[in-house]
Amino acid sequence: MTFLIWQKQLCLGGQTIFINRYARDEYPAGAVQEGITLPDSLLGAVSKRKAEFVAGRIAAKYALLHRGASEPWVGIGEHRSPVWPDGFIGSISHTDDTAICTVSTNAERLSIGIDIENIMDDTLCESVGKMIVTSGEMKLQETDWSKAQFISLMFSAKESLFKALYPLVKRYLDFHDAQLVSFDPQHSHFTFELSQTLQQEIGIQVCHGDYLLFEEALVTLIQIERDA
Ligand SMILES: CC(C)(COP(=O)(O)OP(=O)(O)OC[C@H]1O[C@@H](n2cnc3c(N)ncnc32)[C@H](O)[C@@H]1OP(=O)(O)O)[C@@H](O)C(=O)NCCC(=O)NCCS
Repeated sequence: MTFLIWQKQLCLGGQTIFINRYARDEYPAGAVQEGITLPDSLLGAVSKRKAEFVAGRIAAKYALLHRGASEPWVGIGEHRSPVWPDGFIGSISHTDDTAICTVSTNAERLSIGIDIENIMDDTLCESVGKMIVTSGEMKLQETDWSKAQFISLMFSAKESLFKALYPLVKRYLDFHDAQLVSFDPQHSHFTFELSQTLQQEIGIQVCHGDYLLFEEALVTLIQIERDA
């Protein structure tokens, strides 16, 4: 069996998303074949972590090559943040068998964040739901969305939002640092309003996002425009 089971491209919010399905146990061969080096910080990690890192870096390699990068390698910065080649920005996410990445350029956008999340089961939703979603946000749940689907979407969207905001704030955030103010399932679109503290810090009031359902998982994307 090879590490990469398949590779595909999806389109979301005008961005190309590179997605691959991987076989966890085969990560050493996958890393050699694709020229991915595990950083020292991961040498003692469990194989699940090493495999997701390799799969994410492979998705990033093809996303960067697609955008014309000559050195399609992504470093590791503070708080685990990815360090993109000069001129490029991007974001990576993985589940235990799927990795995704999207890349843009500094010239096109200020920042970008992406996330893939398996839809939670009801038990997990009950235990983490209140931490992730406020009662005000729950009111925007569409009737044909189950609570589990909606909470999973909010979790994924806030992970994407964190990844998009991190390069601007350089610190961890709280799930209540942004409030969902619009959810439009017809156009697979949502909008967050940032807390007053964040607004004052980075001068951005709202962030817009898009999502899609891919098999049993949700993929969310936040793009922050230069004139946001
Ligand atoms: C950092 C975090 C998003 C990563 O979570 P995870 O469960 O490993 O999720 P994913 O697989 O989706 O994403 C992992 C990738 O995110 C990227 N990432 C990690 N830290 C990051 C950061 N500070 N900034 C941007 N991207 C980051 C990395 O590329 C990482 O993959 P890699 O380590 O293999 O390179 C999560 O640990 C976290 O801190 N979440 C907080 C979210 C939050 O505060 N939301 C509230 C916003 S209102």
